[in-house]
Amino acid sequence: MEKSNWCRKSLLGIEELTNKEINQVLDLSKVFKNELSDVEKRSDHLKGKRIVNLFMEPSTRTRIAFEVAAKSLHADVISIAEQSSSLTKGETLRDTAMNIQALGADAIVLRHSSPGSPLFLSRIVDVPIINAGDGAHEHPSQALLDLYTLQEKLGSVKGKKITILGDILFSRVARSNFWALSKMGAEVTFAGPSTLVPKRFESMGAKVSHNLKESLSDADAVILLRIQHERQSSSHFPSLAEYTKIFGLNKNRSKWLKEGALILHPGPINRGVEIDSELADSSNSAILDQVSNGIAVRMAILYLCTNSTTS
Ligand code: CP
Repeated sequence: MEKSNWCRKSLLGIEELTNKEINQVLDLSKVFKNELSDVEKRSDHLKGKRIVNLFMEPSTRTRIAFEVAAKSLHADVISIAEQSSSLTKGETLRDTAMNIQALGADAIVLRHSSPGSPLFLSRIVDVPIINAGDGAHEHPSQALLDLYTLQEKLGSVKGKKITILGDILFSRVARSNFWALSKMGAEVTFAGPSTLVPKRFESMGAKVSHNLKESLSDADAVILLRIQHERQSSSHFPSLAEYTKIFGLNKNRSKWLKEGALILHPGPINRGVEIDSELADSSNSAILDQVSNGIAVRMAILYLCTNSTTS
């Protein structure tokens, strides 16, 4: 593989990425997806590198995909969860990261409940920090794999209408997806109850809708989000049943979608709440494609950040 001209050591968010950088990740993801499909083509670009997954919040998809991605490139991978680390004994995140660096890490993949924690660590340690989700701020690898999946299915997202439906207020996925999709020329609508989709999101450049039918009717794809109970200190709607009654996507309401409109969800899905099983498992659903594409996209992220021209 040619030397990368990627000059960003850490991946902290999508907001600061240029279109060229986004395309660079997606182009390399395509190469790696191709390699993954054939054992003979697999490469060892990260042989000898140590990748540490530091996950301070629960995760299934992101943690496993980063692990599989690093191992597919022949890196050594160490995964640490908060409960099994010395953070439970009062060690700070700063000291934890400094110690991980002293133990020879070449990159740290961080998931944390505090927005800005990856930026904080990137100013402390010398190794790349890859944001695997920081509070309600950003989830860049999710947005890149969502964009990759949408481009794979739609050709290009330029001029396409994408509705992001659900708990926008507390969602890092909504923010990162907005930046990725709008940079690539898509028209993004944030939809859901006014308490979870305040009008102020229009100042980012998104359309805001509190009308489910209207927000679905011209969408080329809808990205569903679950209610992020873990970030809500008070209830933003009367009950989950009420939310589902007004904003849940079911078979009947899916008739408001254009024929062939794609259904995406970053997971985990709460079946029967934001989406019914019939739709989550339908032929229009790209949910498991998102998960699979997450490996190649994270291979590209790990490769570029650990081969940055600034490192
Ligand atoms: N989409 C996502 O971040 O899923 P996990 O929390 O399982 O990693």
